[in-house]
Amino acid sequence: NSMLSWQRTAFHFQPEKNWMNDPNGPMYYKGWYHFFYQYNPEGAVWGNIVWGHAVSEDLIHWLHLPLAMVADQWYDVNGVWSGSATILPDGQVVMLYTGSSNESVQLQNLAYPADLSDPLLVHWVKHPGNPVLAPPPCINKLDFRDPTTAWYTSGGKWRIAIGAKINKTGMSLVYETEDFKNYKLLPGMLHAVPGTGMWECVDFFPVSEDGLDTSVNGPGVKHVMKVSLDDDRHDYYSIGTYDEKANTWVPDNPEIDVGIGIRYDYGIFYASKTFYDQNKRRRILWGWITESDSEAADVQKGWASLQGIPRTIVLDTKTGSNLLQWPVEEVESLRLSSKEFDSIEVKTGTVVPLDVGTATQVDIVAEFELDKQALGATPEADADYSCGASGGASQRGALGPFGLLVLADDGLSEQTPVYFYVVKGPNGTLKTSICTDQLRSSEASDVVKHVYGSFVPVLEGEKLSVRIMVDHSIVETFAQGGRSCITARVYPTKAIYGAARVFLFNNATEANVKASLKIWQMNSAFIRPYSDQ
Ligand code: FRU
Repeated sequence: NSMLSWQRTAFHFQPEKNWMNDPNGPMYYKGWYHFFYQYNPEGAVWGNIVWGHAVSEDLIHWLHLPLAMVADQWYDVNGVWSGSATILPDGQVVMLYTGSSNESVQLQNLAYPADLSDPLLVHWVKHPGNPVLAPPPCINKLDFRDPTTAWYTSGGKWRIAIGAKINKTGMSLVYETEDFKNYKLLPGMLHAVPGTGMWECVDFFPVSEDGLDTSVNGPGVKHVMKVSLDDDRHDYYSIGTYDEKANTWVPDNPEIDVGIGIRYDYGIFYASKTFYDQNKRRRILWGWITESDSEAADVQKGWASLQGIPRTIVLDTKTGSNLLQWPVEEVESLRLSSKEFDSIEVKTGTVVPLDVGTATQVDIVAEFELDKQALGATPEADADYSCGASGGASQRGALGPFGLLVLADDGLSEQTPVYFYVVKGPNGTLKTSICTDQLRSSEASDVVKHVYGSFVPVLEGEKLSVRIMVDHSIVETFAQGGRSCITARVYPTKAIYGAARVFLFNNATEANVKASLKIWQMNSAFIRPYSDQ
């Protein structure tokens, strides 16, 4: 057990022990960020789900609080499942969540803080009239869950969305309410996509280059719909237009509709949820990061899952077709000493060690430039490269892969490459992928290993840029300012503690690259038990 304890993270949110899944009801209230989460108090596997609760003043240092809600009513005795918070204009806080009932029916329930003058909101009351919503006749009792934060309409009523499916068509139903106790199902659907299966943890919010409060609407305001696909365990989003009157949302580009187009993250990242932070006027995204090792290893460790570093999320006004996600600025308060490397030449087929000492907790910002002459001279090359179908960082191409090796030991027997791979299409157009390669990340035998990644838009005149946050057993990658993100869990057996290093590498055959980077050692966050108070 102590052999595995190094896998616990230093600045990612996790309970002291046991299983965690979805983020629930995030909000900012009276000076505190509140975070609730799906939690099994009895073990390191999913089950017995209740709501854990923690608070923070900066989204980085946390104080664990007592469980907010347990499974003590007929309508949630089989599990207090996911839900969302809405802060009303008069300061009231409304929590809506799914209960799995004594007969496993998915029912929506209302809860509220027992004492609004307590900034920690320690005690929660379940509405005596629960459940407030049961599955409508057309929906199976097992396919109706995860209410969103409510938004206010021009008609003076609140609306919420709930995920569902009919056969293989995933969909989002909308209910209207004035008091959060009585609801009316609106005709039609906010949206539906055939073949996508059950939509879990639907999220629906307006975007611009700044964060927008959930009820903001009007001409020119884009709306994002996000769904978590139960069938393939990924979070997909799409940007489109909300028509309040028609109760519909339509994607800008039907080819990148929800469930078939763009993902928040091309590694492990699920059941995510945003909230509007009225304190700093930004929208923040939380996502659940599960394990890639075996259930047996989780039981032995006594815990499973992390939450990703919360990300601010805005519209990428340069492309107009994707969002930008970036670690909240507060994480930079953990930065300690740093080292800078300016224009390091990384020749084809070489590996360059970076002398930063131990590298188990680091924040890396790097920029790469392919040699322009070689880039121009290279003929059309691997136009349909895809990270997932490739052999990872050891497979050489003309203009890639090149990047960083993190959580690597001196002998490189273990390494997690995070790399760019550039290809040249028929008419000379360049296309760039960002990938994270787990294939050599661990010598342990019970770990699932992928080459994660995706295409990332690179605009005229932009350098290739990446930010990588490493924290013991998690590697989070944000390419081109957060246009594409990859979160990986890694379980090295040698590249741990003082043995973990960082290297630059270039495995392209035709072009040298220049790399400039800055690497910070990261402090540990205080994530304290309630009893410390
Ligand atoms: C998503 C999910 C939700 C559900 C909760 C149960 O991971 O399955 O749909 O509310 O987890 O823990």
